[in-house]
Amino acid sequence: MSRLSERPATAEVGVARPHESAALHVTGRALYTDDVALRTPRLLHAHPVCAPHAHAFVTRLDPKPAYDIDGVVRVLTADDVPGVNDAGTKHDEPLFPTEVMFHGHAVAWVLGESLEAARVGAAAVEVDYEPLPAILTVVEAIEEASFQGMQPRLERGDVAAGLERAAHVFTGEIDFAGQEHFYLETHASLALVDDDGQVFVQSSTQHPTETQEIVAHVLGLASHQVTVQCLRMGGGFGGKEMQPHGFAAVAALGARLTGRPVRLRLTRQQDMTMSGKRHGFHATWRVGFDDDGRLQALEATLTSDGGWSLDLSEPVLSRALCHVDNAYWIPDIRVDGRVARTHKTSQTAFRGFGGPQGMLVIEDVLGRCAPLLGLDPAELRRRNFYAEGHTTPYGQEVRHAERLTRAWDEVLTTSDFEARRAEIARANAGSPHRKRGLAITPVKFGISFNFTSFNQAGALVHVYKDGSVLINHGGTEMGQGLHTKMLQVAATALGLPIERVRLAPTRTDKVPNTSATAASSGADLNGAAVKDACDQILARLRPVREVLGPTALWDDVVRTAYFDRIQLWAAGFYKTDGLSWDANAVQGSPFKYFAYGVAAAEVSVDGFTGAYQVDRVDIVHDVGDSLSPLVDIGQIEGGFLQGVGWLTLEDLRWDTSDGPGRGRLATPSASTYKLPSLSELPADFRVALLERAAEDGAVYGSKAVGEPPLMLAFAVREALRDAVAAFRPAGDSVELDSPATPEAVFWAIRGGRP
Ligand code: MTE
Ligand code: MOS
Repeated sequence: MSRLSERPATAEVGVARPHESAALHVTGRALYTDDVALRTPRLLHAHPVCAPHAHAFVTRLDPKPAYDIDGVVRVLTADDVPGVNDAGTKHDEPLFPTEVMFHGHAVAWVLGESLEAARVGAAAVEVDYEPLPAILTVVEAIEEASFQGMQPRLERGDVAAGLERAAHVFTGEIDFAGQEHFYLETHASLALVDDDGQVFVQSSTQHPTETQEIVAHVLGLASHQVTVQCLRMGGGFGGKEMQPHGFAAVAALGARLTGRPVRLRLTRQQDMTMSGKRHGFHATWRVGFDDDGRLQALEATLTSDGGWSLDLSEPVLSRALCHVDNAYWIPDIRVDGRVARTHKTSQTAFRGFGGPQGMLVIEDVLGRCAPLLGLDPAELRRRNFYAEGHTTPYGQEVRHAERLTRAWDEVLTTSDFEARRAEIARANAGSPHRKRGLAITPVKFGISFNFTSFNQAGALVHVYKDGSVLINHGGTEMGQGLHTKMLQVAATALGLPIERVRLAPTRTDKVPNTSATAASSGADLNGAAVKDACDQILARLRPVREVLGPTALWDDVVRTAYFDRIQLWAAGFYKTDGLSWDANAVQGSPFKYFAYGVAAAEVSVDGFTGAYQVDRVDIVHDVGDSLSPLVDIGQIEGGFLQGVGWLTLEDLRWDTSDGPGRGRLATPSASTYKLPSLSELPADFRVALLERAAEDGAVYGSKAVGEPPLMLAFAVREALRDAVAAFRPAGDSVELDSPATPEAVFWAIRGGRP
């Protein structure tokens, strides 16, 4: 074991602790950005002027009438921007656009003494538009060759030869939906300026450093004049990796121009209408198997729906390409990727970051082809697993592939899979109108940012004279329990009870140049940085300990060290070694390791309506040697259910008619957009952590957990396919829409929509 992975005999890491803010969360005492805003005197409120077209030129914008409204203080337009009028890092996202690119696009913002004044003021701003044709679906975009950004190709071997060699070749196509983040806390920013014009922005952001950079470039300031703080988020799920920047910049611009604190918080409807979502994809494929069902070749084209601008669409596409293999060895492969430009919100990061979309393609291929090959889908999947020594199509060795089989076998055993399947077959035979389905699916997910440079982190650890410890690190807390884990890491590293350690909110003036808290790597990166800082402090304390003796108490060591003029704080740093990635060639070893998991799901489906329920789910998931088991189990349960939502319930619809509402998000609130809730939780839900799984080279032997469990939900989609198959003639290949809503299941039972 490396020094980083070695775990002391008694350690705070590994203890099952509740989330450090659990009590605050459930009693409503936890403060979020907007709670702070509402306690701020002289606050101004921001409201957008939203365009009623999916695509249009702004031919005239007259803010004057807004000033007649009582309480309107200032209208913000492009003319007010002292720096760069852009909200992104690609310079393709004008903050105040002259060309409207999606229905609800903000063309101006109004600041008011109250939110109501700002709202009425925004309605009074006069804007003339020249409507333009709008592209709304990926299929339309493909027809019109409307693409943006890179068009990477993942290739290994000779796909034509592979297909030639294959005994069975099948082709198919699938168009599948994106997903709304629906974090409980909508986008929120609060900006203040000090006496010297320096800006302090509190933002619900997963990427404080980038928010800082965008605010600085919009205001024409240097980064050292802008500080961004993220107290905590009420969920981010990737939706706050890039999307907060523009909102923070609007608030900051307002604060600079008025000298007053400005609050910008979106309503749910605004948030859903204006902010990016998970990318839906369109995929075409041709696949070849040998007589035993072994994958020989896969040729596919993946087109993601990027929306109006790039933001993270290119890296999301990279990750999709890197996960199209999921857990399976595919000797000859060629996958082309491209990003469609459509007149919709700019689709963005969402838990899994393209990984789920890549995996959906291969899981759909296997689910559809199994009956055509005359194989049981579980057997087909198992036969194609990676084994030790295999490499992925992009050239990375698949280390610990045996964990896949270990988790698979464990789920088969603990879920009593074979016996239940026999029982379900018997029951289905006698039940014409209600069928049950059972399926088991694997997950292999690469951990690290593909872009190597992002795999670095910093931390600041202060030991005060009284022996108490304050830690700061570059990661943000969005409910995932990162701060809980960091407290446990610091307490373990310093050998202290966890009560002696406190954690301060994430700020760019404490730890600079941070990466987004994303790619599930928050604990890996920041944990190692925290540990590095603690190790430095311990090294400086060692001579003092030697003088005072091994039984000396921490507080005495610290006090003595202070009087000896020994520095009691340290900045820690970590970078992940051994990574490489060439985004153009789609080649390299971008991941520190893979996280593995397996899920088995049972569903029952009503033949008259397509309505279904998830009756039982068994999961074994690999989190290495867990830093915080309660947190990790929560992440697995939550991630899984969020995946079930994406694959079965959540149905984003845009108005695709040619009427005046073309391009409007038709599902902009909870009344029209169905999220999974307690009632969709499997009636019987069993989650276990894979044992004997310590990960060498990661902090205290742990593994990342944030995203991978989402993809365990494929088991539910495949179980639905299994249940649908039971309604259909034996050997039928079942095509299932995604999301597999009850309506979609209904039509699948009938063999397709009329
Ligand atoms: N869990 C909660 N409760 N809320 C969230 O917003 N985001 C997910 C995951 N789990 C999220 C969550 C996403 S998209 C990622 S990348 C990781 O948490 C980020 O945190 P980590 O790197 O600390 O795991
Ligand atoms: Mo997570 S999608 O990497 O924020």
